[in-house]
Amino acid sequence: MSQKFYIETLGCQMNVLDSELACSALLQSGRLQTDVSTDADVILFNTCSVRQHAEDKVYSAIGRLKGWKNEKPNGILGILGCMAQKDQKLIFQRAPHVDFVLGPGRLDFLVETIEQLLGTQPRPVKTADVSLRRTTNGHAEVLESFRQYNPDRMIPETQKTDSVLVRITFGCDQFCSYCVVPFVRGPEQSRSPHDIVNEVQHLVDQGVTKITFIGQTVNSYQYQQTRLADLLYQVADISGIEQIDFVTNYPLDIDDYLLQAVRDLHQVSKHLHVPAQSGSDNILKRMNRHYTAAQYREMTDRIYATIPGATMTSDFIVGFCGETDADFEQTVELVKYCRFRNSFIFKYSERTGTKAAELYADDVPEHEKKYRNNRLLEVQIEISRQQTGER
Ligand code: 5AD
Ligand code: SF4
Repeated sequence: MSQKFYIETLGCQMNVLDSELACSALLQSGRLQTDVSTDADVILFNTCSVRQHAEDKVYSAIGRLKGWKNEKPNGILGILGCMAQKDQKLIFQRAPHVDFVLGPGRLDFLVETIEQLLGTQPRPVKTADVSLRRTTNGHAEVLESFRQYNPDRMIPETQKTDSVLVRITFGCDQFCSYCVVPFVRGPEQSRSPHDIVNEVQHLVDQGVTKITFIGQTVNSYQYQQTRLADLLYQVADISGIEQIDFVTNYPLDIDDYLLQAVRDLHQVSKHLHVPAQSGSDNILKRMNRHYTAAQYREMTDRIYATIPGATMTSDFIVGFCGETDADFEQTVELVKYCRFRNSFIFKYSERTGTKAAELYADDVPEHEKKYRNNRLLEVQIEISRQQTGER
């Protein structure tokens, strides 16, 4: 009988895509997917470490699987994704029933890792395959250890869809002071336009009409002379492509060449997700975001002026280290000025290993973070409501 696997995904679209690719590889290796975790022979968690809350959820979900492991001692429990890279072997200490951890830069070894574990009897071996730490290794070695994972993707018959994610950049080099992503996803790497266009064509052949390009700073895409706008032109030329989106944008890299491509290509959605994170220059500086609130406003003006009918969404962190009432009010003002269609608001969560954790005290009390979160949400909801009324 074929083995069954179960995969649970937490976190962002990067993880959603990684899980889809992992599923595709496991299905191609002859395994079957199940939606019932306890029926599975292999259980995988694709994890997120952007905020503490996401990690806590994983540890409690893994904890609940002790019974499954007792009943199925040959079952395999694997932890993929950002927590695997961040916590590495620590995961075995906190959850000794986990069999393997595999970082996001090592996903191409997933099938092999599972097969090795299945083939080892008795099974005392635990494996941790992760990329090298950025802080203690040379750039070239680190880059090599974060492998790009672009397997030939077959959309399973049972999961037919007309809309898919396509990764165009891996990793991140921005090092925002609060963020763990550059450490767990590695250095920024852009895929070749040739590979991307081939993949999109292959997906179109399987019935796809809508694609979303994803990357941590997707608009920083650059492969030799090719930039994101060039890629949009190339992909819009593929017959059968009806809609192209791209997330997530870094404010300073929104240039006029890109905005004109968005305006001129009817296939490209007139919508941009550009996280601002804060409206206070003091806080932006502490966050290592490299722009001021005035620059962000100017960028917003340019977007609305260049692309008729454009809409925008943003991300904000409230309660970052040292954020005063006055700083927070500047964020409220920015949200009012930019008239986002929606904002995703997060309470600051300290992450070990980041500059913010090293340099600044997490000094905004939890109740104040909650208050600011709710207050900003109310302001945003009112703006969203007005826009729905306008349409
Ligand atoms: N605490 C809270 N929110 C965070 N984000 C990233 N790191 C943290 C953190 N340490 C938010 C940012 C980012 C979104 C994906 O998650 O707003 O844009
Ligand atoms: Fe994190 Fe900043 Fe990179 Fe976004 S741009 S992934 S917030 S470091």
